[in-house]
Amino acid sequence: MQELAHYTLEHCTDAQMVTGALVGGLLKMVVRMLAARRVLEIGLFTGYSALAMAEELPDDGELISCEIDETRAAVARDFLKRSRHGGKVRIMLGPAKQSLRGLTGGFDMVFLDADKEGYIEYYECCLPLLRRRGLLVADNTLWSGRVLQPEQDADRAVDAFNRHVQDDQRVDNLLLTVRDGVMLAFKRG
Ligand SMILES: C[S@@+](CC[C@H](N)C(=O)[O-])C[C@H]1O[C@@H](n2cnc3c(N)ncnc32)[C@H](O)[C@@H]1O
Repeated sequence: MQELAHYTLEHCTDAQMVTGALVGGLLKMVVRMLAARRVLEIGLFTGYSALAMAEELPDDGELISCEIDETRAAVARDFLKRSRHGGKVRIMLGPAKQSLRGLTGGFDMVFLDADKEGYIEYYECCLPLLRRRGLLVADNTLWSGRVLQPEQDADRAVDAFNRHVQDDQRVDNLLLTVRDGVMLAFKRG
């Protein structure tokens, strides 16, 4: 994972998109606490968060990660091959909304980390795929503080997402002020 983070910082434009050690550590902890076996991720990038979560899955566990960009997915594939946990990760290449349509439910956890304008739709598609008492985690929900004074489309989208989750009676939620903000939405039993 250190090599993957280093490679991403050295070679990838948009390297700041990588979740990094803090949120990566949080994700690992959540997977462990849920005793998760099936995880769904929207936004693979070069695979850092996927590998972090996969390391905590049992040997027969599965993480499905959606990614639209072939070049980024190729980097992830290379690094996943080098890890003994990489075999647990299945990459679905293409627009996530399309990929989600082909999935069956029962996921223990969902991690949202793709285009912010799509967050509400991803949330609505993913919630039925999440088991009862499963956890949806969404990254960047403080959006560098811009949710307080939204000016651009992405600012408004993240703000709308936070309000959407807050108003949703199907979940209990908590917005953690960790790094760029991490929303937890626990699907009620
Ligand atoms: C913030 S990055 C994900 C970072 C990753 N979780 C990590 O820890 O390194 C967002 C990723 O979502 C992908 N993405 C954007 N729009 C998408 C879409 N419609 N469908 C699938 N992936 C998408 C981008 O190509 C990008 O790689």
